[in-house]
Amino acid sequence: MSIKKEIYQILCDAVKGLGIDAEGLSVAFSNRPELCDYQCNFAMMCAKRLNEKPFDLAEKIVKNIKKTEFFEFLAANPGFINVKVTDKALSEFCNDVAVDKNLGIEQVSKPRLVFFDYGGANVAKELHVGHLRSPIVGEALKRLHFVRGDRVLSDMHLGDYGLQMGLTVLQLKIDGFLDAFFEKTQKNDEKSAKKSEKSVDFSKIPLENVTLDVLNDEYPKASKRKDVDEEFKKKADEITLFIQKGVEPYYTIYQKIRQLSVVEILKNYKLLNCEFDYTFGESDAQDYIDDTIQIFVDRKLARESEGALVVDVAREGEHIPIPKKSEDEPQRFKNPMPPAIIKKYNGGDLYATTDIATVAMRNEKDVPDEIVYITDKRQDTHFEQVFRCCKLAGISPEGQKLVHIGFGTMNGKDGKPFKTRSGDVVRLKDVVGLLIDKASEKLAANGIKGDAELARKIGVGAMKFGDLSNTLEKDYVFDIEKFLSFDGKTGPYIQYTIARINSILSKAGLSQTGRGQQNGGLCVDIQTVEEKNIALAILKLNSAYQVSYDAYSLNSLCLATFELASAFSTFYNNHKILTEQNEKRKKSMLAICLLVKKCLEKALWTLGIDSVEKM
Ligand code: ARG
Repeated sequence: MSIKKEIYQILCDAVKGLGIDAEGLSVAFSNRPELCDYQCNFAMMCAKRLNEKPFDLAEKIVKNIKKTEFFEFLAANPGFINVKVTDKALSEFCNDVAVDKNLGIEQVSKPRLVFFDYGGANVAKELHVGHLRSPIVGEALKRLHFVRGDRVLSDMHLGDYGLQMGLTVLQLKIDGFLDAFFEKTQKNDEKSAKKSEKSVDFSKIPLENVTLDVLNDEYPKASKRKDVDEEFKKKADEITLFIQKGVEPYYTIYQKIRQLSVVEILKNYKLLNCEFDYTFGESDAQDYIDDTIQIFVDRKLARESEGALVVDVAREGEHIPIPKKSEDEPQRFKNPMPPAIIKKYNGGDLYATTDIATVAMRNEKDVPDEIVYITDKRQDTHFEQVFRCCKLAGISPEGQKLVHIGFGTMNGKDGKPFKTRSGDVVRLKDVVGLLIDKASEKLAANGIKGDAELARKIGVGAMKFGDLSNTLEKDYVFDIEKFLSFDGKTGPYIQYTIARINSILSKAGLSQTGRGQQNGGLCVDIQTVEEKNIALAILKLNSAYQVSYDAYSLNSLCLATFELASAFSTFYNNHKILTEQNEKRKKSMLAICLLVKKCLEKALWTLGIDSVEKM
């Protein structure tokens, strides 16, 4: 049982022993750590109802508690019950945590299958800085669920089904990259392209000269042109539809482009420690589209609007009044939830179409208890529409939770979205490169040269910790110097604390111990306030896993991880561990080192950050 639960139980028993209903009793970490470790406000909450003075009631409750060697209870004005945890109880807690395979992290009572949809890169579009947050947040949320005992699955849900396909192929065609494909078809115009050209095996034709660099030039070129050239846009729309319907050679050309992109995207995600169970994309739901659309039609949930098929997802009473400019202006309303378009005027599929069909696919294949989508918060409306559609049509069963986690923008120091000096979007590769370079410089200054992998772990860790420390929906400033500081609330500071512990353990001849379940045969026996603070920091860290899990936000976990590292630093600065003469004391302090190392490593792993041996 956790310490908090034990205290709760003791207080409940004492309250019930007085014949009082314990409903609403709760125990929290103290916000006056100099006075006590935990506190309970129950007496203040219900004194009035019982016609008592809060302090008197608190005292009565305390008097009704049997003395133990683990906790001290004290009534305090105006009616708190303060709880101190004894060193003995904390030592026992530490020793329990050290041998627990979950390091004392409370497991969910009913493990569920939680499916994470994050990453979401788009084919043919180069990854840029805006693509950093989804993989960082998604990977950490997935790991957090895993650490708490859920089963998890992940899909990077590639953007591979929209207008960008048509745009890229059209531009490549115009620029002569696809001649080999079109020479082989006798009929070169799109209008006469058939469902499949059986006579030619297009898969055998190589996409000659089309490299990632070419794609990185071609797509933006096409994207700009579509805004000013109506004819071009129409053609691109048409080719998009061909690809969606499997018309050759467009379909095969596009598959080749997709392959090229995916290799690059996965390489980038790997740099960020992101791995996926599925590398599906929007197009993988293709086989489910017709059937899902049919459900909406059959159940009369969809209606035609200007040739398109739409679903009304607004709920009654949801109309939001628009503030009036003057008294006599009639009251007008805006509807916050516009109808979801599930088929385009030309029969083409949209973002919502593939997302709805993808839910159907996931519910056939994996049947998750929950699906969590992690994207920019500007997609809020899209997901709300998709979720409502899925629930309306029964594509998502009643008990299934669909959650969208929308995050804010990563800004430059000027408070505007992070851009290069010339105002261009920064490529993801370049940001990661910059972080690695800066980390290398810092390491070199510490006498470690030429370890590129170590620099990656520190650079990427710095960025991830900097990102995850913020509340999700807030925009935040990408401040590379601050993130990479070896001191303060940063990833490198935690990594540095672990490296420091490694050095102590290795000097004590213990570098290989503690990796298994046993804590190297060592036993924690808390004697000093610094050690007590470490135990309390571990308690708080363990409860932060729960807080972060419930809030789908890693900031509490980041903070608690930092606080443990910081408690360790104070302990380290005030105690001589290796030269301690009393053998029992020394062993206890080494046991604390091992335990802190394990807890910090687990927390970093959860955040998707690598630990390092030394730095
Ligand atoms: N490709 C999308 C984008 O670039 C993100 C995909 C998110 N996942 C989803 N199922 N819609 O914004």
